[in-house]
Amino acid sequence: MLQQCARAKINLALHVTGQRADGYHVLDTIVTFAETGDRLTFQTGNTLHLTVTGPYSRFLPADTDNIVLKAAQALRSRYGAPEQGASINLEKNLPVASGIGGGSANAAATLRALCTLWRLKPAADDLAELALSLGADVPMCLLQKPARVTGIGEIIEPLSIAPLHLVLANPGLSISTPDVFNQLAEKENSAIGEMESPVDGWIPFLIGQRNDLQTAATALCPPVQTCLEALQNCSGSRFERMSGSGATCFAVFDSRTTAIEAANRLNSTHPDWWVVATDTVS
Ligand code: C5P
Repeated sequence: MLQQCARAKINLALHVTGQRADGYHVLDTIVTFAETGDRLTFQTGNTLHLTVTGPYSRFLPADTDNIVLKAAQALRSRYGAPEQGASINLEKNLPVASGIGGGSANAAATLRALCTLWRLKPAADDLAELALSLGADVPMCLLQKPARVTGIGEIIEPLSIAPLHLVLANPGLSISTPDVFNQLAEKENSAIGEMESPVDGWIPFLIGQRNDLQTAATALCPPVQTCLEALQNCSGSRFERMSGSGATCFAVFDSRTTAIEAANRLNSTHPDWWVVATDTVS
């Protein structure tokens, strides 16, 4: 049996810098990945079979629309053999459609695991191309390391960012990514710009950046603002921002202890929210 952690993806900064002729938006984003995530297990089998368990399983049918099966089928038809199968369980711990790349991370975990299980050795570039065909965030989730990502998600430059102490908070609502992009008033915003190892450290550098989807997401889903304000009011919070197209927001704390205290407090004041304290990977 093989296990994979599909880590939550956090956009520490997300600048929308343009739009391609095919409608996809051009981004300049700094991403990192959290210790927390979904868990997937893989066993060899005669057919492809998926079960979904965990706290958010009820929002995610295990049918052919599930991106885990789409990733497995795409990998098998490109590199494998028709008789190859797998029995997969997805333990869905992350809220769905919430801006932290849950589906993309699940697809990436499936590609990583099935390459091992089925003894496939696609070239890294080929696998990244297959990943991109499944979703713009899937290539960065294959890597699961801090990176600056440009294009629509296909240009990935690894970054060295020491673990950050985060609180992730979602007000219990899903937002449609295309709806947020469609609602964007300004599509040509400034890029992140030069960032040769920020002299004063990452946190001051990140404070000066933005998530250009935040205003549009807040208009569609006003509780995003409530979530950001609640994070801002936590002692020890250095800055707060929305991740991806929302509705999950995060705050970066100056220590793991203050992050855990803040998460405990938010969990008691907002029992209907999803709130976790987690460190990021380095
Ligand atoms: O690639 P993915 O399936 O995750 O994207 C979902 C939708 O989000 C796309 O169909 C597109 O409408 C929008 N999107 C975009 N620009 C990006 C990524 C996503 O417009 N860079």
